Amino acid sequence: MIVCSCNVLSDGDVKACLRPGPECPRTPAQVYRCLGCSPNCGRCVRTIRSIMDKALADAASEALHVCNKGCCPIALERAAAEPTL
Ligand code: FES
Repeated sequence: MIVCSCNVLSDGDVKACLRPGPECPRTPAQVYRCLGCSPNCGRCVRTIRSIMDKALADAASEALHVCNKGCCPIALERAAAEPTL
């Protein structure tokens, strides 16, 4: 889905530049820079911010629940959802 019509950026473009690490953009302005453009009208800033917030929350959730020992409800739910071999 196109989230920035001025720069023709999709939600996938935004998510693709949000890799964990020191280079990960922390602001929408850094996302534009990462994608080689800059904001024009600015209507997409909130949408980009919400994509960033969700992606970073998902990454944090993944990092917090990497154990597979059933130590929390999320780990148990994931184990139940995984197909058995
Ligand atoms: S829609 Fe993104 S800068 Fe205009």
